[in-house]
Amino acid sequence: MDSGDGKTAVTVHPAIEGLSYLLGTWKGVGEGGFPTISAFTYGEQLTFTHPGNKPVIAYSQKTWKISSGEPMHSESGFWRPKPDGTIEVVIAQSTGLVEVQKGTYDAEKKEVKLVSELVGNASKVKEITRVFTLIDDELSYVVEMATNLTSRQPHLKASLKKL
Ligand code: HEM
Repeated sequence: MDSGDGKTAVTVHPAIEGLSYLLGTWKGVGEGGFPTISAFTYGEQLTFTHPGNKPVIAYSQKTWKISSGEPMHSESGFWRPKPDGTIEVVIAQSTGLVEVQKGTYDAEKKEVKLVSELVGNASKVKEITRVFTLIDDELSYVVEMATNLTSRQPHLKASLKKL
């Protein structure tokens, strides 16, 4: 794999082999809602890259209004899978909220399940869960959240294809 600087050929670190199917750029559409807000749709692009030989996948996401292309939420972070099937993910959101997620991944089922261990700098959000599943060539995810007023409910679901 090319490291991006055009000079050094790097290999996929063994710790991320089970998630190497994620590497690349994914694009698709999502739907959002929550008991306290109106339903909405959005366009989305996710990029997973493997910076060098480190046991980490860099993650970045951007979303936009389908009607106008106007930017919506964006976030980025790092996915840190361990060989024992556990994973830790850190994410910084454009709203200022930060997450430390812990969970598991199944390389055979191509499923990643995350539950927030820490949600920081958030006025309302208490807990966030994220589940990513690859079925055939379609990457889908569901994000649920709990707020100070509402128990855990779905906020987002999306379906993306690799570019
Ligand atoms: C884990 C990621 C996210 C978290 C924790 C989050 C959190 C929230 C919260 C706390 C609210 C307010 C709910 C209320 O007032 O009761 C909200 C509303 C909303 N979110 Fe998210 N959000 C996330 C991702 C996204 C994404 C990816 C989009 C769009 C692509 C999005 C679009 C919206 C919209 C349109 C609203 C309603 C309007 C508004 O209050 O701004 N959110 N979100």
